[in-house]
Amino acid sequence: MRTQVAIVGAGPAGLLLGRLLERHGIDTVIVEQRSRDYVLGRIRAGVLEYATASLLDDAGVGARMRAEGLVHHGLELCFDGDRHRIDLQALVGRHVIVYGQTEVTADLMQARDVSGGRIVYEAEDVTPLEFAGSQPHVRYTKDGITHEIACDFIAGCDGFHGVCRQSIPEGAITNFERVYPFGWLGVLVDQPPVAPELIYAHHARGFALCSMRSLSRSRYYVQVASDERAEAWSDDRFWDELRSRLDPESAESLRTGVSIEKSIAPLRSFVAEPMRFGRLFLAGDAAHIVPPTGAKGLNLAASDVRCLAEALVEFYDEKSPAGIDGYSARVLRRIWKAERFSWWMTSLLHTFPDAGDFGRRMQRAEFDYLTGSRAGAESLAENYTGLPL
Ligand code: APR
Ligand code: PHB
Repeated sequence: MRTQVAIVGAGPAGLLLGRLLERHGIDTVIVEQRSRDYVLGRIRAGVLEYATASLLDDAGVGARMRAEGLVHHGLELCFDGDRHRIDLQALVGRHVIVYGQTEVTADLMQARDVSGGRIVYEAEDVTPLEFAGSQPHVRYTKDGITHEIACDFIAGCDGFHGVCRQSIPEGAITNFERVYPFGWLGVLVDQPPVAPELIYAHHARGFALCSMRSLSRSRYYVQVASDERAEAWSDDRFWDELRSRLDPESAESLRTGVSIEKSIAPLRSFVAEPMRFGRLFLAGDAAHIVPPTGAKGLNLAASDVRCLAEALVEFYDEKSPAGIDGYSARVLRRIWKAERFSWWMTSLLHTFPDAGDFGRRMQRAEFDYLTGSRAGAESLAENYTGLPL
């Protein structure tokens, strides 16, 4: 089999890259180790920056997002029960769209079905090969038969645990990492959200987030210790803990129910530099992870692949390597800013085992600054709705 760009991973990064390249007549094959249903069953965040939503429009996959996504002009911060609204629209003239990553993935898969783009699910032992030279290929096994895809470039869109980053020779790549001493326990429930906008809450018992997928489906999180197990949390225990961290009005109006999903995600900041080795490019979670506070993960994946697609189009159309040579440095500038924002929001809103009284006073002062200063609030709004590429 031959293609121009072999894409490893059918998450949002791989699928969107395939879509953007296809719009410019560049052929791709996507190789994914999981089944389609498995990929569609993963529950992840769902806040789209303004520019991510526009990119989905440009890629011709924005119709359902525009019809079903919820436009949010603001968000709420809550500190020890004091709630304050950040008016994104008034501060920076932009909004965000609440639309689940699962839905984005489904829309991209549907578009690929319609256009007939090749995609191999349940591929085993996927291996990127000879990408240091000019004739890279990707090997995989499917139903016991080994296949090879010869290509011009490989795009590693295979997430944090993927094979592509790990295939780059040690020493050619530097990893930067911070692991936080807690995780998020998340619950999905078919109940209307507690408030029309997201509530990010700091409380002495830990962080809590009230989010949503639609007007009838809510997503809630509470900060838990790193060694906590989801099985130890009955629905009742979860709802009691969540209520205890919210302001009285929200705690009162919270509509609880039987959880339809409950899981714990660790929190990590991670960046691998550079995001290119020879003819292998990394994009999305394969190269960087942000803690979910601020919902930057999917948005960063989108801006990476936008930039990578532009670079590859330039290479094929104008025979210029400038774009692909500049790809890593260009996207890393934006990635580090999103890393900073996600780390900062995490630091503001969570309880840290070693913060001490001084650390807690700093968090309160930060909250008071943000809620009392237009400059402070504007900075949050600018980052939350998305910095320019
Ligand atoms: N071979 C083939 N596919 C693989 C391999 C492999 N060795 N390893 C992983 N994959 C697949 C995964 O099964 C997954 O479907 O790569 C895909 C990577 O998708 P994501 O993890 O969703 O990563 P990405 O597309 O970069 O999307 C970033 O996902 O984790 C969230 O917060 C993050 O929202 C952000 C988004
Ligand atoms: C979510 O809805 O899952 C979500 C929303 C906002 C975040 C993180 C997660 O910052």
